[in-house]
Amino acid sequence: MKIAVERREAAAASADVVASGLFEAGGKDERPPASLAKDDKGSGGMIAPAWKRKEVRGERREVTVFHRPDGRGRWVTVGLGPRDRFSAETVRRAAAEVVRAVKGKGARTLAFRLSSFVSGSVVSAAAARALVDGAVLGAYEFVRYRGTVERGIEEVTIQLGEEHGAEERTLAAEVAEQVRIAENVLWTRDIANLPADTATPERLAEVARELGKEAGLKVTVFDEKELARMGCGGILAVGGGSDHPPRLVVLEYPGGTRRGRTVAVVGKGITFDSGGISIKPALKMSEMKFDKSGAVAVLGILRAAALLKVAPRVIGVLCCAENLPGGGAYRPGDLVKTYSGKTIEVLNTDAEGRVVLADGLAYAVAQYHPDEVIDLATLTGAQVTALGDDTGGLVSTDERLAAGLLLASAATGEPLWRMPLTDYHRELVKSEVGDVRNSLEIPLAGMLTAAAFLETFVGSTPWAHLDIAGPAYTTITTRKYQPAYQNWGATGFGVRLVSRYLQDVGRA
Ligand code: BES
Ligand code: MN
Ligand code: ZN
Repeated sequence: MKIAVERREAAAASADVVASGLFEAGGKDERPPASLAKDDKGSGGMIAPAWKRKEVRGERREVTVFHRPDGRGRWVTVGLGPRDRFSAETVRRAAAEVVRAVKGKGARTLAFRLSSFVSGSVVSAAAARALVDGAVLGAYEFVRYRGTVERGIEEVTIQLGEEHGAEERTLAAEVAEQVRIAENVLWTRDIANLPADTATPERLAEVARELGKEAGLKVTVFDEKELARMGCGGILAVGGGSDHPPRLVVLEYPGGTRRGRTVAVVGKGITFDSGGISIKPALKMSEMKFDKSGAVAVLGILRAAALLKVAPRVIGVLCCAENLPGGGAYRPGDLVKTYSGKTIEVLNTDAEGRVVLADGLAYAVAQYHPDEVIDLATLTGAQVTALGDDTGGLVSTDERLAAGLLLASAATGEPLWRMPLTDYHRELVKSEVGDVRNSLEIPLAGMLTAAAFLETFVGSTPWAHLDIAGPAYTTITTRKYQPAYQNWGATGFGVRLVSRYLQDVGRA
């Protein structure tokens, strides 16, 4: 999608659709908001009468299409809700609602009236960036396997008008950067949406190699023979039941400054999770093609690091395997020796994410001595039960890292909620016959015992765990509760958040 800023007033823009945001009237106040006068004039006197007859009220998710009497195209108002609850996230959603409302309806170009989306702490730059996010992410659909594709908005302009005309240069730079950030999420979604027959562990490794060439990253792929030599018994055990052999993939971004921090980002890359011998029920098993979302997010994060030239050195580690119940599958009762030398008592082969991450986390720490480790994983159903499918679970042993991630979360609108990790959870994952067990076989704090398990393989390095089982993807049924910029399928959750964190590390 092409996106630019333009000095002109929105009413003078040559676009198929002009869009402006509209706040709800406060309290008993039935008077139209002050900004409405400008929209009314621009639209040719269409909007004030519509406000009066309560056709438009400025409520959230309210999109109203007006046809300008002078024949200059459509004017669309989008509700922003009450002004005192307005944030950049409101703008992100509103922009996506506009783009989706006019999809397949003959509109190719769209102009946003910037000042109608600026209020309080949402200054012009924040509003412009949120419009970019909403338009780019909201226009996305995974169409690779579909015969018919509806065309939608292909070009967006952000009209500065008299209010923001003087900021043209800075806003143009902000918008250009945000377009790259948002389009990087689409790149990530396109891979995470691939079905498991295509996105095998080998294929993910190839994608990493291609990315390495394109973005100038060093990429190393370990196949099953090398994994055996290295002692990565966790990844090998999980991948053993599939004809598609497992892979450990490492990407290195050298960092923008000499002697900067090193951040390792580790992802769960289960290309399909059938549960293995502890097989899952048939209903919704198809969703488990998204069980690679953590690893694919790591690809997106490394791509963003290179695109944005972030300051820290970033190491990406993808733990890729397919969890199937074939003849070589690992079983409940097995004791698996991992890269670190620690052993895992397998009680449930469906708790496979932590088993592959055991190797990936220990490898990242031992080989790169990172200053901090962040992992992303669609790890537990318990995360979805606890926080739903919009908010990721954050577990961290480091206050500074946790605070940094929560700041980045607030800035990007990818919600995180911090959860505790205590000796209680550490006690629960201890094994009688091995060092740790991969399942409790009783439903107790599933997200947190999974985190306690992972911590065993990180040691004392500052670490944050993002359980993204819920927010990594939406389904036909959950889609309607999600913001309009999350279409059906993979969301790319975590990519904007962690990329933003990496940008902030350099600024701090
Ligand atoms: N991939 C699943 C977790 C998951 C569930 C992701 C729902 C997305 C949506 C994971 O491998 C899993 O099966 N976890 C088990 C662990 C249990 C057996 C200890 C779970 O959460 O039930
Ligand atoms: Mn599983
Ligand atoms: Zn899984």
